[in-house]
Amino acid sequence: MELTQDLSKVEVRGMEAKYYDILMNIITLGWYPSFIKKAIDDLELKEGERVLDLGAGTGRNALLMREYIGRSGEVRALEIGAEMQEAFRRKTAGYPNLILEDRRIDEPLPYHEEFDSVFISFVLHGFVQEKRDRIIENALKALKPGGRFAILDYANFDVDKAPWWVRFAIRKVECPLAEDFIRRDTRQMLREHGFDTFRESLYLQGYLRLLMATKPAD
Ligand SMILES: C[S@@+](CC[C@H](N)C(=O)[O-])C[C@H]1O[C@@H](n2cnc3c(N)ncnc32)[C@H](O)[C@@H]1O
Repeated sequence: MELTQDLSKVEVRGMEAKYYDILMNIITLGWYPSFIKKAIDDLELKEGERVLDLGAGTGRNALLMREYIGRSGEVRALEIGAEMQEAFRRKTAGYPNLILEDRRIDEPLPYHEEFDSVFISFVLHGFVQEKRDRIIENALKALKPGGRFAILDYANFDVDKAPWWVRFAIRKVECPLAEDFIRRDTRQMLREHGFDTFRESLYLQGYLRLLMATKPAD
């Protein structure tokens, strides 16, 4: 099957977007809140950091990140979904350092060496490879030298050898782009764009991963 962007489910809209956080909690049988809290903790964000969040969703992640970056840091959240944007504004009202921008992440971004961290959570798998490469380039350009690109998404594994519930999630619930992403070597993909020094945290028996890569210092 030829993989095209119109197969993707990454642009979450309508009722699914309106109730996204609740749906995630239900689908994962209540596991999601503790998982995402742990993953954000594993980012090891510091007070005062500037974070670029690509495909930010409802603001749940931005609020968790705020606990680490404090008032002096900033989360710049890029999101195109109207319902997601509405949820983000509602959740983050009163926090002026959590800033939403209506901007596509798969087109060239205007940031140049401004951010300490770039975060992308359950978004990268939903693009064709050409767009993934563009997003990685955007992250590289937006980061300060020595900054970190953090990808929270599926790990790389053999889907055929995974248990039935993983195969069901990937092949029946997700779009075909997810399996394509899982089959590729994400570290190698990042290396080809110039990132190095990797660190990872694994979740859900190793099927999910926070992969952090560093932009080399000049
Ligand atoms: C699966 S959700 C993940 C949301 C959030 N990162 C999280 O972990 O909860 C994917 C998000 O990416 C957004 N998105 C998809 N394509 C995008 C694009 N080209 N530019 C900006 N946001 C996009 C969707 O609207 C949706 O909110």
